[in-house]
Amino acid sequence: MHIKIIGSAAGGGFPQWNCNYRLSRAARDGVAGVQPRTQSSLAASADGHGWVLFNASPDIRQQIAATAQLQPQTGSPLRSTPIRAIVLTNGDVDHIAGLLSLRERQPFAIYATSQVLAALDANSIFNVLDPEIVPRRTLDIPGETDIEDAEGNATGIRVEAFAVPGKIALYLEDARRPDANFGSDEGDTIAVRLVGDTPENSAFYIPGCARIDNALRNRLAGAACLLFDGTLYTDDEMITSGVGTKTGARMGHIAMSGKTGSIAGLEGVPISRRIFVHINNTNPVLDESSAEHAAVQAAGWEIGFDGMEVEL
Ligand code: MLT
Ligand code: MN
Repeated sequence: MHIKIIGSAAGGGFPQWNCNYRLSRAARDGVAGVQPRTQSSLAASADGHGWVLFNASPDIRQQIAATAQLQPQTGSPLRSTPIRAIVLTNGDVDHIAGLLSLRERQPFAIYATSQVLAALDANSIFNVLDPEIVPRRTLDIPGETDIEDAEGNATGIRVEAFAVPGKIALYLEDARRPDANFGSDEGDTIAVRLVGDTPENSAFYIPGCARIDNALRNRLAGAACLLFDGTLYTDDEMITSGVGTKTGARMGHIAMSGKTGSIAGLEGVPISRRIFVHINNTNPVLDESSAEHAAVQAAGWEIGFDGMEVEL
């Protein structure tokens, strides 16, 4: 299985269009060791020809332009794509807005939980993807699904989807229910396991996760690769950097550091490669010369970047 991170930043990307924080400034200025990143998306292929995307970011046009494997191939029809299907891990803008850029009556399949499909159905702009041409299929959670293209041909990619602690998309939050996580339900945010040819050859893609509990630790044990929510380094980072008022917990994202963070939470769990993705523009690890970048690497984690490949 071939896996490629085509977008390693969180919503907004890096630099974010309106961000004047030191990291976005450094990325804009081309400072060495501060690489720009596009918004959250992953590509996977069983045969190197047909690809399944995990999330469709607002930067998808740029991501396809930067990724030869995702472009129409020499000798293929005048209108064609190697993208066979798109699996959505939640309904956040950074994970679904790119669907609108794929609106040229080109067949592919969309897979998501019933809640996320309901969000697409409720927003008629997504009908630019005619469901007759771009079928929408429900991912059962928990459950395993063979991902097929629009015509029902196998892609060779099989996923196991399951709910993780998280939050409903920002634009769907119910402000009257702060005690109920703003109306979030199981399945608003999911993890996917890309099922390998052997049990040891699986990769997990979890770009959003609010907590690590024993159930998740047990599921991840023995994985070849984990691509995990790296939104923030510290829970209050948006506040201390002066760009926002929300904690990571409020946004449904666990921090990397601290006693309740992901590094500590997954310490000792046998996982061959652990890679952070969905990295927010306030996260100090984006500067390769930072102490935080060094600390994350010393803890056995890699910092994902656009174009990073994993072979399983
Ligand atoms: C998130 O990951 O929390 C969302 O992408 C935030 C957003 O919708 O901008
Ligand atoms: Mn996001």
